[in-house]
Parts: sequence; structure tokens; C-alpha cells
Amino acid sequence: MTHAVDLARRQFLKFLAGSPLLASGSLSALAGEAPSKLPDPMLWAPQNLEELIKSPKEAINVFDFEPVCRKTVPPSHFGYMASGIDDEVTLRANRAGFLKFQLRPRRLVDVSKADMSVEILGVKYDTPIVVAPVGGQKSFHEEGEIAVARGAKAGNHLQILSTATTSPVEEVTAARGAPVWYQLYASNKWEVAKAFVTRAEKAGCPVVAVTVDRSSGRNQETLFRLRRTDTRDCNACHDRSSLAANMKRRSMYEGVDLSGLTNTQSSAMTWDFMKRLRDITRMKIVIKGILAWEDAVLAADNGIDAIIVSNHGARSEDSGRSTIDALPEIVEAVHGRIPILVDSGFRRGSDIVKALCMGATAVCVGRPYIWGLGAFGQPGVERVLELLRIELHDMMQQMGAPTVKHLVPAMVRRA
Ligand SMILES: Cc1cc2nc3c(=O)[nH]c(=O)nc-3n(C[C@H](O)[C@H](O)[C@H](O)COP(=O)(O)O)c2cc1C
Repeated sequence: MTHAVDLARRQFLKFLAGSPLLASGSLSALAGEAPSKLPDPMLWAPQNLEELIKSPKEAINVFDFEPVCRKTVPPSHFGYMASGIDDEVTLRANRAGFLKFQLRPRRLVDVSKADMSVEILGVKYDTPIVVAPVGGQKSFHEEGEIAVARGAKAGNHLQILSTATTSPVEEVTAARGAPVWYQLYASNKWEVAKAFVTRAEKAGCPVVAVTVDRSSGRNQETLFRLRRTDTRDCNACHDRSSLAANMKRRSMYEGVDLSGLTNTQSSAMTWDFMKRLRDITRMKIVIKGILAWEDAVLAADNGIDAIIVSNHGARSEDSGRSTIDALPEIVEAVHGRIPILVDSGFRRGSDIVKALCMGATAVCVGRPYIWGLGAFGQPGVERVLELLRIELHDMMQQMGAPTVKHLVPAMVRRA
């Protein structure tokens, strides 16, 4: 075990709660807590943190990448990625939420060809698995967003690029070989948002996804604690003397006048912002971060093209509510008026199938492809996305669904 891992051992084990790793005998031994009784069913193939995968090919599920990423990426960067908020109740709820729902597989349907393709806002993709916007990807691997774009291209996934990208939107679009959606952190200064949107549209982005759930400060405890274990000089890269200096490596902010701005996030945004945005762009507008049906209805009423049901991967608040719990009320209230995407906590084909059965058009995935990126760069991203596609494909066959349209509400029930 490396020195860094040793130092963070307690937090690391806590962090792994909810992952299948914690169930393993070797981990229990590491934690010094012998299981009080043998597990049922028996665990004949416990995972062992000493035996990490050495290549993406070896991965059996997406979780296999997480401890490799932990070992490869500096503790503060890993902490930034892994962190939830406060007690991380929402973080755990995002995984536990899927256990509240069961699937009802149907039989004797020809599923020899399971077609995973979907249309999202008029464009056809080979799968409903979308690459969620994640900022600062060069902090996980030197090729950052470019490696992710190439990984997304391999499986023809829709990629959403963060405002906090460390690679230029023009280069990411070229690497993806197709338009990417642009995720907007608008800030409280209209001119800044306008500059981002103008550049993204010029780069060929057909959609702007406005993130609306970063309206507050946040206590990222896991990040702050892991940062204390980082022995590198963070000031060498992070110049916190001013907002502009701090944004230096964030390509979207290049040449943009940030004067008067103290924060890149939006605490003052209202529905008026969406009207103003509509007036300056031909891009479709998506709102990311909807959690209540009332806001979903308002989005449709305000002419928004689609919404993403998201709690930001439990990185904005600690409400304790998972998105898979929030999804049904939103689908019901929206009544098919606009497409609904969803993210936060999706790790398995069965998770994705549950959301699709409930009525989601597509599912975005965040941390898993970052684990792949941090662990192995582009091949890691590719394998994470491939594993998700394989699991989704197999699960569709099990459900008796030859196409995504065959995944219907009757196939999912509250447990
Ligand atoms: C390290 C990290 C950075 C993120 N950066 C952004 C961002 O810049 N903009 C945004 O809208 N969402 C951002 N998100 C949230 C993701 O888009 C997505 O909502 C979330 O990761 C989904 O949850 P999951 O990680 O459990 O899959 C970020 C998530 C992570 C893990």
C-alpha cells in the first residue's frame, strides 16, 4: 500500500461505502472489523484492493476503475471528484435509490438484436448513455477532455462539455468528430454568459445546457480532508490571487472580462435569464439540475427544450433525495411535453434501464468515466463506456426490449 493511500485509509474505506468493494472479506480485514456473520449469499470472489486492474481490458465493471484512479490521481484532485456535500447523504442516496425500484422482465420476445439507439433533440445516437459535463478534466489526465471526446466518439455517445473545461471547445468538438453540447455556468454577470454562449454556438454546439443547481456555497468535506493529505504545492498550479488568475487554465474564460465578478456560479438566476438567453442564441436550451416537478413544468411552460433531472452527482446539496426518486413525479408532471434526461449515481445497466422504463430519454454519467480517465486515459474512458453499453444491452435483452421504446413504465415497480 502506498504512503498516500495509507494516510487516507480511513476516509478511503468510508468513501467506498456503497460500492461492492466494501462487501469483500479483504476490505473488512483492512478496516479491522470482522464481519459478525457470513454473508448470504456467500462471496466466493471477494475483491481485493491490493489487486487493482492493470489495464482497462481487465475491468469487469466500472467500479474496478475507481481505486486505480485513487492511486493514480493526486489526493486533492481525487477528492474534488469523489466529494459530496456535508454528510454525503445525497451521495449515498443516489446509489441506494436504485434499490427502491425493481424491474419486471418480460419473456418470449425476440431480442436477438437489441437496438440501444435513441434520438435526443433530433439527433440519433447509438446509445442513451451520455457523457455528463465534468470540469477540469486535465486534473485527472493530461489529455483531459480530448481523451474523453475520443472515448465518447468510439461509442457514438453524446458528450456535454463543461464551462470549466481545460480544453478548448473547438478542439473537443474536433476530437469528438461531431457537435458536443455546451454546459453553461452563467455567473451573475450577463456579459460573461453571453461570451461563452456566443463562442460555443460558433464552435458548432447545437445545445446549451444551463446548470441551475450551483446557487450556493458548498462544504465538500471529502475534498477538504483529502487535500490536507496532498503534499504537493497546490499554489504552483492554482493561483487564487484573483478570479481571473484562478480561471487561467479554464479555456472558456480566456479573453472574457471577469471584472466585478467574485464567483463563477449563479445565485441570482431566475426564469428571466432563460428568456434573455433565448434572444441571443439559436441553440436549443436545456436546464440541468431540476429536482421538483413544479420546476419541470415551469421549464416546459417557458419553452425550454429539455431538462436534466440532476442533483449534480450530490455535489450541490445534501437534501438526501436521489434523482431516481425524483424522476417519476417529474415524468408524470411533464407529460411528454419535453424530453427528460437524468443523472447522478448511474453505474449499472440496470440503473439505466430503470430510468428509461420510467420515461427518461437518456441517462448522463459523470464520475465513472472520470475514474477511467484518471486510471488509464482515453482507453479507460472507452472501456467504462463500453462496460455500461454491454450491461445496458444485456439488461434490455433480459427485459424483453428489442428497442429502447420497448422499455415502459409497467416494467418498473417500487420495491
Ligand atoms: C469532478 C466533477 C466535476 C463536475 N463538473 C461539472 C460542471 O462543470 N458542470 C456541471 O453542470 N456539472 C458538473 N458535474 C456534475 C455532472 O455533470 C453530473 O451531474 C454528475 O457527475 C452525475 O453524477 P455521477 O457522478 O454520480 O454520475 C461535475 C461532476 C464531477 C464528479
